[in-house]
Amino acid sequence: MPAFTATAPGKFILFGEHAVVYGEPALAFPVTTIQARANVNALIKGNHGEIYIEAPDISLSAPVMELDPDHPLRAAVSAVLGEKGPGEIPACKIQVTSTIPPASGLGSSAAVSAAIIRALSAFIGQRLSDEQVSHLTFQVEKIHHGTPSGIDNTVIAYQKPVYYLKGEPFQFLSINKPFLILIANSGRPGHTREAVQQVHQYWINDRERYDSVFKSIGRISKKAKELINTGSPVELGPLMDENHSLLQELEVSSPELDRLVKAARKAGALGAKMSGGGMGGNIIALVDEGVDQVIEALNSAGAVNTIISPISAS
Ligand code: MEV
Repeated sequence: MPAFTATAPGKFILFGEHAVVYGEPALAFPVTTIQARANVNALIKGNHGEIYIEAPDISLSAPVMELDPDHPLRAAVSAVLGEKGPGEIPACKIQVTSTIPPASGLGSSAAVSAAIIRALSAFIGQRLSDEQVSHLTFQVEKIHHGTPSGIDNTVIAYQKPVYYLKGEPFQFLSINKPFLILIANSGRPGHTREAVQQVHQYWINDRERYDSVFKSIGRISKKAKELINTGSPVELGPLMDENHSLLQELEVSSPELDRLVKAARKAGALGAKMSGGGMGGNIIALVDEGVDQVIEALNSAGAVNTIISPISAS
């Protein structure tokens, strides 16, 4: 039996994180230079239902069914099995690796789930559509993040830039002119689940104030979509700055993220903001000229890693 391999990219959110959980639009892009990979091999001598999983990045090697039922790797396997008992599938070993920095707002958890779901379903002879992969990944994301909006699994399963509004059919973004985004890791792990829970608590305590912040973020996302469609990506810079201020108001930024955002702007970026759940993780900066200069400034301000992510016209 051949090995079945699937990969899934990382992602960044250009505009709209957190507000998207409350029904405002957000824009997300795949990052194909970083990816999760799942490899499924039949175990010729094994018995039906023996499913082993190896994830060297987290020093895990175990029979899947011995993991806690809520373990996200087991949940990804269970999502594929659905009604089937593990005994109905041939013995196999799933190897999972990822170059997406974990806990950094770049979609590592959704990408790992999507890669497992795609590879394992192919192994059992049920190739899934992007829509099915997205749906099953969303089920696993609920374990990671509690109340995910669905944006991460969508951009990662379809591997295309998306304009996402919870509860509505999403749209692929049409991009008139290419632009360049720099992603910089603050070195402090992000905490999406905690950040989403904290924002929810703030919202419960003062709905009027936070609904108005979410609406302002939603207005930015709508405007950004227009600019991307009609060809003025340079004008996204001030919108990124504005979005970052609103995320600071939600208290999901951190001193490390703020320092990187400031450094990028000072070194010539057209705009910068934190990206993803926050409280750590990554910032993104829009850069046209002087990329090296911005990278140098980010490194001096504490970035532990930078990724250049060119966005092509589509
Ligand atoms: C996480 O990548 C983005 C958040 O908006 C949460 C979500 O949309 O599920 C913070």
